[in-house]
Amino acid sequence: MPIYQEQKLRDVSRQFQIYGEFMHAEPCKIGHINETYTATYSQGGVLVRYIHQKINTGVFKDPVAVMSNVMRVTQHLRAKLIAQGSEDVTRKALTVIPTHSGKPFYMNGGGEAWRTFVFIERAQTFEAVQTPAQAREAGFAFGAFQNLLADLPGERLADTIPDFHHTRKRFTTLQQAIESDHCNRAKLAKKEIAFALKQEPIVDVLLNALADGRLPERATHNDTKFNNVMLDADSGKALCVVDLDTVMPGLVLYDFGDMVRTTTSPTLEDELDLSKVKMHFPMFEALTRGYLEAASGFLTSAERSYLAFAGRLITFTIGIRFLTDFLLGDTYFRVHRAAHNLDRCRTQFKLVESIARQESAMQKLVDSI
Ligand SMILES: Nc1ncnc2c1ncn2[C@@H]1O[C@H](COP(=O)(O)OP(=O)(O)O)[C@@H](O)[C@H]1O
Ligand SMILES: [Mg+2]
Repeated sequence: MPIYQEQKLRDVSRQFQIYGEFMHAEPCKIGHINETYTATYSQGGVLVRYIHQKINTGVFKDPVAVMSNVMRVTQHLRAKLIAQGSEDVTRKALTVIPTHSGKPFYMNGGGEAWRTFVFIERAQTFEAVQTPAQAREAGFAFGAFQNLLADLPGERLADTIPDFHHTRKRFTTLQQAIESDHCNRAKLAKKEIAFALKQEPIVDVLLNALADGRLPERATHNDTKFNNVMLDADSGKALCVVDLDTVMPGLVLYDFGDMVRTTTSPTLEDELDLSKVKMHFPMFEALTRGYLEAASGFLTSAERSYLAFAGRLITFTIGIRFLTDFLLGDTYFRVHRAAHNLDRCRTQFKLVESIARQESAMQKLVDSI
């Protein structure tokens, strides 16, 4: 958790088109990439809240490109919601508050990039899905997001993290890490390395389908974790999705695959008891029903045909990233214990096996909806 520096936040707060008096701010506990604060203002005699967020420029090297994407996407979402006659639009799409000079973010003297959003009130996010009803909301939220973006006009969005889901490139990096074995750790991960290398036939499946035009590139979210879905605090229904830094050109299957990875197993990413790691079919069913309810209007039959497979592929891809980082000496993912990345890799590979065993039943369900 970042240390809250009130003076700095006051300075940041003055840069944006907020016509109220800054009262106080607190760091937000959820989210691991950006630094997020909830700030309260006295405005027109009522208290109003805003989100001030420092963009993680270590991960997102080009904040101008990130914010150009975010502006295009949020303005498009807003225009579509208004055209549909939707109520409560500022709770159903993020609203960026520009700086006094009309810019989408503020670069302070210390080289920090800050942006501001309307605070979505009476809404909650959770770290993990607890029930099939929540899995349904997650599927629906991201499906609706993709649906609203399906007709985003203009040029291609910027690639804010190039090759983020490029399984072949991730696989090649793993092969190089095994080959060089700089940290002499390969001997500790023999089983996992053997498992990873055996999966090579799945590596190019979606990349080939994209390359030869069977799958369309679309504007996708690319970080479809449950803690990026805001749920109405009263009804528990999905309101909107947040965390738009990775919105960029991609496959809808990457989004859906990562939803399968993060919502269908009740365990944490670094669970040590592998017997608990399992793809729960009722969770998958609820997730898929929610997703298709929102997305079936635009999905092609080719996209639908890979939905179950996408869960296996994306889980595998994250698994090899953990394994690679373990072999390279834990340089990317933060670790809190020895072999932490190897533990994370094991849960992902266990989930890959569980999905593989159930994949035909999963696809059958997709085909029946
Ligand atoms: N506009 C908003 N209104 C209310 N809460 C928000 C808003 N934007 C973000 N949050 C909260 O802050 C958390 C972290 O923000 P997020 O953009 O997801 O950053 P990170 O990239 O660090 O995950 C979210 O999970 C959500 O709980
Ligand atoms: Mg987030």
